[in-house]
Amino acid sequence: MTTLFINGSPRRHGNTATLGRRLLADLDHTTIHLADYRLNFEQDQRETNDPQIDQSDDFETLMDQVRVSETLVLGTPVYWYGMTGQLKVFMDRWFDSYSADFPFAKKQVYLLIVGADQPEVKATGITQAVRNSCEWLQMDFRGTLTVTADGIDDVANMEQLPPAFTHMRSDLKHP
Ligand SMILES: Cc1cc2nc3c(=O)[nH]c(=O)nc-3n(C[C@H](O)[C@H](O)[C@H](O)COP(=O)(O)O)c2cc1C
Repeated sequence: MTTLFINGSPRRHGNTATLGRRLLADLDHTTIHLADYRLNFEQDQRETNDPQIDQSDDFETLMDQVRVSETLVLGTPVYWYGMTGQLKVFMDRWFDSYSADFPFAKKQVYLLIVGADQPEVKATGITQAVRNSCEWLQMDFRGTLTVTADGIDDVANMEQLPPAFTHMRSDLKHP
């Protein structure tokens, strides 16, 4: 059982990736970049006779990693004041796993948000969506860390991160 950092940015070495790396430094974890996986859009099969499953992409491979992780750190840059398409599509697809009795319940979820335009004020919808989704799936939403950054090295060059960074790190160390 370990911590899985899921980077929803297409930049594998950008601000979200760096924030996750700094947050989880010295902590046992695995990192995956959603951009490295092929994910189809969700198909809603509820009114059809087809099963709620799509095995033609990498979704089940990703869920194998989610299954063995008790803590998920979801990271996303702000794109048009929401989460990236990569993370949204991945979360949409959780419906397939939910329909197959996947054990989401009790997993701890942390959220990392990086944006350029006042994300702590203008991107609160991301937190709402993730918090409500966690509640629906009976996961334990532990909070959001929001950082303002734009250039690819901005987070790497930050000497000081917001107080939520320290709180989240200590929560991750002593859940
Ligand atoms: C397509 C696109 C849309 C964006 N939309 C927003 C936005 O709505 N609000 C915002 O604060 N930043 C926006 N940004 C800026 C990114 O959130 C910012 O550059 C972030 O640091 C990128 O994180 P990354 O390095 O992890 O990819 C956008 C960037 C791109 C490429």
